[in-house]
Amino acid sequence: MAYLLGLDVGTTGAKALLTDASGEVLAAATAEYPIFTPQPLWSEQDPADWWRGSQAALRAVVAQAGIDTSAIAGLGLTGQMHGSVFLDAQGAVIRPALLWNDQRTAAECAEITYRVGETRLSEIAGNPALTGFQAPKILWLRNHEPEQYARVRRVLLPKDYIRYLLSGDFATDASDAAGTLLLDLHTRDWSDEILERLHLPRDWFPQVYEGPEITGHLLPDVAAMLGLPAGLPIIAGGGDNAAAAVGTGVIREGMLSSSLGTSGVLFAHCDNLTLDPRGRLHTFCHAVPGKYHLMGVTLAAGGSFRWLRDLLGVSAIGSQLAAIVGSMPEAGPQSGAPGFDELTAEAAQVPPGAEGLLFLPYLSGERTPHMDPLARGGFIGLTMRHKRAHLVRAIMEGVVYSLRDSLEIMRELGIPTNQIHVTGGGGRSPLWRQMQADIYGTAVAVPAVEEGPAYGAALLAGVGTGIFADVAAACDTAVKTLTHTSPDATRQSYYDACYQTYHGLYATLRETMHKLNALAQ
Ligand code: XUL
Repeated sequence: MAYLLGLDVGTTGAKALLTDASGEVLAAATAEYPIFTPQPLWSEQDPADWWRGSQAALRAVVAQAGIDTSAIAGLGLTGQMHGSVFLDAQGAVIRPALLWNDQRTAAECAEITYRVGETRLSEIAGNPALTGFQAPKILWLRNHEPEQYARVRRVLLPKDYIRYLLSGDFATDASDAAGTLLLDLHTRDWSDEILERLHLPRDWFPQVYEGPEITGHLLPDVAAMLGLPAGLPIIAGGGDNAAAAVGTGVIREGMLSSSLGTSGVLFAHCDNLTLDPRGRLHTFCHAVPGKYHLMGVTLAAGGSFRWLRDLLGVSAIGSQLAAIVGSMPEAGPQSGAPGFDELTAEAAQVPPGAEGLLFLPYLSGERTPHMDPLARGGFIGLTMRHKRAHLVRAIMEGVVYSLRDSLEIMRELGIPTNQIHVTGGGGRSPLWRQMQADIYGTAVAVPAVEEGPAYGAALLAGVGTGIFADVAAACDTAVKTLTHTSPDATRQSYYDACYQTYHGLYATLRETMHKLNALAQ
């Protein structure tokens, strides 16, 4: 019997899981780490924490499974996208990594647009310059920390830094590389034109592979430390959204996933390169060789829920949703404080629409559809009647309205949107799942095994090591649907009206949000 390993270097923690050759999950383990906000709009992590978390998760999963580790065929990697790990000539980390939800780089985005040209950028990289992407982070280092920039010899994405420590190779995959803004989406390799215009040396960037390809092998000393076989094949894998799509079978035209983790993502598989001419949706490579995807991102989805939960007092870790939206590692359990499941149960007692309360989930600025790092969140419509349960319900609904914005753009582009797989906290919570069916106005499917990006990475490892013929065969073998949830016609039409009201709010409040940012400086 052969086994497969997947490792997800996520935002709230590292997750490792082990499956057998049929894709059945035998063991899973998570190790959490902190996120730092040294200044407003900044978001950073210490790559050393990712490494500690990855080692702990891998060691735990191997111990838990109690299998003959020499039968493990390969390890697939995935992780949070877009982050910047700067390495010096000795391979040492120069400063904390800037993350996907860091918003400090608005000026560098303008610089990239000026140097490359808006049209060329979209023609080559498929996207406009956005603060979350990796390229503006590199320019930020050059503009703000020139002495650190002078030491840079390599720039890696989060999971690829862990790959470097595991196997000593500088490698990435096309789906994650597309999120740098430096990849030519047509050739699926670095764009010399963009690199030249930004004065970035090509040899700073790792070799680009397709998702299922083997990029290297586990170093003997690391293998001994982790209790894994030396020489274990390490597989390219994918950015977390592309890997999660593989793990839930979203690998064919007409299939979508709606995933609620720290961020919320609406993801559509595309056989061919498809662009949103207005740049509101991202176009990236898929982890399926030669394929692409469109994606809308809400930066604070589960993150908004966690924000409220933490304001109300940190509760015991261990609920279903805590695993998805993340828990605060530095805080211990407090008796009497509400947990995610308790809050969700309370929210279920409140009528749809939370009795006239709307929530804008722009707590970290927003990507789709506004592309506005200075957008701010808020509750609109509070009255004396509203209780904690209303706030929770409004947050859950607001996050789904925000993904409905992405769905509307996909519909406008003519993407078929009738098969939506719901994953993450939004798939596991019956209330959040029903809200998605009602607010999207379409039935949603819940995959039977929903282990997120790490599962997709393990399946890609199965393809790379020949256990499955290709990604389609892996998904056909391993991915099954558990249940479907249909919209309720009455709620659907009521939610339509609520969504239209939500949709108008950003335009009305944009100027106020920007003034508040200026006042907060
Ligand atoms: C995608 C994005 C997030 C991160 C979170 O563009 O920024 O979904 O990948 O892990």
